[in-house]
Amino acid sequence: MTADSVVPESVAERARELREVLDYHLHRYHVLDDPEISDAEYDRLFADLVALEQEHPALAVADSPTQRVGGPPSAAFAKSYHRSPMLSLGNAFSPEEVDEFIVRVHRAVPDVDAFVCELKIDGLAINLRYRAGQLTVAATRGDGAQGEDVTANIRTIRSIPMTLRDIPDQLPDEFEVRGEVYLPKLAFAALNARLEAEGKRGYANPRNAAAGAVRQLDPTVTAKRGLQTFMYQLEPPGPARTQAEVLELLARLGFRVNPHAIEVRGRDDVLGFVEAWGGQRHELDYDTDGVVIKVSPLDAQSELGFVSRSPRWAIAYKFPAVEVETTVLDIHVQVGRTGAITPVAQLEPVLCAGSMVRRCTLHNEDEVARKDVRVGDAVVLHKAGDVIPEIVSVIAERRPARSAPWMMPSSCPACGSAVVREEGEAIRRCVNPLCPAQRKERLRHFASRGALNIEGMGEAVVDQLVELGYVLDSADIFSLTTSQLLTLEGFAQRSADKLLAAIDARRRPPLARLLAGLGVRHVGESMAVSLAAHFGSLDAVANATEEELTNVEGIGAVVAAHVAAWFATPEAQDLLARLSAAGVEPQQAQRIEGPWLGQSWVITGTLAAMTRADAEGHIRALGGTAGSSVSRKTTAVIAGDAAGSKLDKAQRLGVRVLQEADFLSALREAGRPI
Ligand code: IVH
Repeated sequence: MTADSVVPESVAERARELREVLDYHLHRYHVLDDPEISDAEYDRLFADLVALEQEHPALAVADSPTQRVGGPPSAAFAKSYHRSPMLSLGNAFSPEEVDEFIVRVHRAVPDVDAFVCELKIDGLAINLRYRAGQLTVAATRGDGAQGEDVTANIRTIRSIPMTLRDIPDQLPDEFEVRGEVYLPKLAFAALNARLEAEGKRGYANPRNAAAGAVRQLDPTVTAKRGLQTFMYQLEPPGPARTQAEVLELLARLGFRVNPHAIEVRGRDDVLGFVEAWGGQRHELDYDTDGVVIKVSPLDAQSELGFVSRSPRWAIAYKFPAVEVETTVLDIHVQVGRTGAITPVAQLEPVLCAGSMVRRCTLHNEDEVARKDVRVGDAVVLHKAGDVIPEIVSVIAERRPARSAPWMMPSSCPACGSAVVREEGEAIRRCVNPLCPAQRKERLRHFASRGALNIEGMGEAVVDQLVELGYVLDSADIFSLTTSQLLTLEGFAQRSADKLLAAIDARRRPPLARLLAGLGVRHVGESMAVSLAAHFGSLDAVANATEEELTNVEGIGAVVAAHVAAWFATPEAQDLLARLSAAGVEPQQAQRIEGPWLGQSWVITGTLAAMTRADAEGHIRALGGTAGSSVSRKTTAVIAGDAAGSKLDKAQRLGVRVLQEADFLSALREAGRPI
């Protein structure tokens, strides 16, 4: 018997109560946008539940709000059939085509004039299956008949209820709820900014970013992306008689339903809705690429039926893309903190999708060449995902007579050093670590919100500190003096004191923040959190071998090599020594604990009861590491079916070998029964 089975009833009851209260407040916050309690109060209740579940792991049931942070990563997604096919919609591109749709509807069902107009959310379709009020499977649309089972990821989305209450009798025990998962524009912009700061390419639009987040193999990554949902379909619809009632019922069941849907009568009101949203849509915090017009009465829908894969009772009116014309005044290059040189087009200011655009990134030299953008060109501009300005194409006929293809400078515009493009990379970098432009960017990053968050140390202050030679790298920040600060523009005694106090307050930063602030390529906020949790101290991270780094969740061989190489440079070692001399002492992160702490396991061959990724997840959850190469230090090798050379090596080195069944009993003994 494990300790799990002896939870006192009063404790179980308290956990049930906490789960219900937390679910209620999650719904108020994420679905209704109308919280009743402060974030701090929520956090307190949440912490109470976490504490109970830690003490009694049996209480951490799958539908507990604590399980929304994401489970262990998986190697691939299983397939899942939908109860009924998920269809697509026919399109209309003009008011005339909407008219034709209404005429077609009337020809088949003459007396229908109630239509529901909904915004067409530009995300990705998701199908949620509930059985006995519990979310059982969440699947992507896939080919319409069968999608990918992304339940572990979907669980992390706060606006999706795990448990439904108040289910009307007319709904069967098992039903499906369909709708859209999307990434709000702000979350998209923040994600791209973060990816680019980490030297990675951002997503082209929020839709792709949402799809990327839903299809993450590691649910903890999905959990951090800030996905949202709007649901619009119930299959079967139970007591609802119209699409308007379906939306009401979904809201009652606890789903997030778009507030702008309305039931209208007749073509004029349909077209009125379409026209109004054509202009207003840019004010929303999510992307919509059109309006879905649905016949509201469900019996009329059944009568209309389908043609091939689209219903005859609905159509998607697509908004014309917002494209404007402007002129490229110049192409500058910017130097980022990792030395990445990015071409940026300076544009004749132009209004596009609700805001004035003056510049837009051209990403890299290949992009400039592919589009052949030149100084003086007339160009077509749009906003990718309504957010990020992007040059769609050059208007060739209007190219000035004597224009020349744009060339990437061969030296850094800030320091004159060589710029190098490594094999397989699209980006050219300035290789001079002393480059003042990189310095400024690195310092800005160090002081930024995602890292040390030093209040009052914005762009203008950093620029001056570098230009005046007071600060060369982040360690110097901690030895700034009042008299130095007083020479900065706009600084007086009070502002100098304030900045020094803000700096002083950051001498004991959380380890993850300091790691994120160092500006190591590939180490962004979430990677820094993983490193800190795994190693516990700055010294341990700095001294970790490549092999040890690959044991950290989410770190592959390439990143591990980069991180190890960075900490091995004399510059990095000097920086760490000077940070420490300046009294900067990161707070030790809590190390992952567990009965298998310090043990290293290797799996070889195929396991029958679980995927290799799941098995590795269990090992890590118990505090152990799961590696790929066998050495004398390996605690044990788990031999699955068709185990190969690793098994031979283990036997040669005298390392303990466990069969799958032994491994399962070891897990059981360690408190993780499978
Ligand atoms: S109804 C049988 N309503 O558009 C019709 N779809 O091309 C089912 N979409 O795959 C779709 N917002 O991902 C419907 N309010 C909305 C929608 C919507 C976005 C997407 C959905 C679907 C695609 C149809």
